[in-house]
Parts: sequence; C-alpha cells; structure tokens
Amino acid sequence: MPTLMVIVASTRQARIGRTVADWVVATAHQRGDVEIDVADLQELDLPFFDEAHPPMMGKYELPHTLAWAERVAAADAFLIVSPEYNGSFPGSLKNALDFLKAEWKGKLAGIVGYGAYPESRMIGQLGFVLGNLGLERTSIDLQVETPWSLLAEDGALVATPELAAELQTMLDELSLREDERVAA
Ligand SMILES: Cc1cc2nc3c(=O)[nH]c(=O)nc-3n(C[C@H](O)[C@H](O)[C@H](O)COP(=O)(O)O)c2cc1C
Repeated sequence: MPTLMVIVASTRQARIGRTVADWVVATAHQRGDVEIDVADLQELDLPFFDEAHPPMMGKYELPHTLAWAERVAAADAFLIVSPEYNGSFPGSLKNALDFLKAEWKGKLAGIVGYGAYPESRMIGQLGFVLGNLGLERTSIDLQVETPWSLLAEDGALVATPELAAELQTMLDELSLREDERVAA
C-alpha cells in the first residue's frame, strides 16, 4: 500500500489545523487504501534550517535532517494541510520544505488550505514552491472556508458534501501507486 504523508503546517497553540488534518486522516483511514504518516510540524519541532550544505547536494549531516529525510523519502505522496497567514503559507511549512530536495522530487502533492475566505491566496504561492521542489500536483486543491464554522459539538470537523466529495477525489489520486499514476 502507498504511504501518504499528511503534513500539518500550523504550529500554533489552539490551532484549528490539527482538526482539519484529523478530518483528512479519518477520511483516508476509512478508505483503507493508504498507509498514513501524520507529520505534524508542531510535534516535529524542526529548528530553522541549519544544514551546512544546500539540500540539492544531498549531504545532510544533522540528526533532525536525517530523520526528516528518512521519513519524507518513505512517503509516496503528500497531503499538505495549511492555513493562510498574511496571504501566504506559514514559515514553519517553508522551513520544513527547504530542509530537503531529492526526497520530494517527482512525488504527488495535494493542498488542503483553510482560512477566512472562499478564495485562497496561499494555495497559489505554495504551489509555486512545490513546483520548484519538483513535486507533481493533484488535479484539484481544497479550500476549507472558515473551518471553525464546521465544528460539531465534539469538536470534530463536519465537512459540507461538496468538500467531502473533493477530498475523495484528491485521495483517489494520492492513493495511486506511481506506476498506476503514470498509466492513468
Ligand atoms: C498570523 C496570522 C495571519 C493570518 N492571515 C490570514 C490571511 O491572510 N487570510 C485568512 O484567510 N486568514 C488569516 N488568518 C486567520 C486564520 O485563517 C485563522 O486564524 C486560522 O485559525 C489559522 O489556522 P491555525 O489555527 O491552524 O493556525 C491569519 C491568522 C494568523 C494567526
């Protein structure tokens, strides 16, 4: 089974990002067609990028980089759950992306953005960076508008039917093995 890494970009206390990611992860679990590795950047707690060599040289030296590289290398695809901060994506996510290079290249990535508005400015910017890293993109991205308005009494996110369908479409693509993706 392919491994899907779900990256939780917000590292803020009391963030809603983990709730959005929990919805994504629960949906993926229900499908049962991917192994899931949740890379919560709050838990990962990477320092600001501090390697001596540029990542494109592949000469990682520090233990936190080696551990992050091993984890990302083991993933077949990525689903990035990210808020919009000041019109872009959080620095925590840029930092985690900048640490590595070859481990991202050629793999498929989908973006689940969220924020106060129906239109995301963040997704375009993140897409540009993912393109620089050589990541392929899913055919759609998701924008969860005001996720705090979608919470049930138990605090879980209850998606609209439209969002739920879009997530299934994204997971259909992210759950394909590379050879299946090339053939599709
Ligand atoms: C530093 C900062 C900047 C923000 N800028 C935006 C923005 O540009 N667009 C937007 O829709 N919401 C913006 N918001 C509101 C966020 O959508 C909202 O706080 C959301 O809960 C952030 O995600 P998080 O709780 O997972 O960190 C901003 C919030 C913060 C903390």
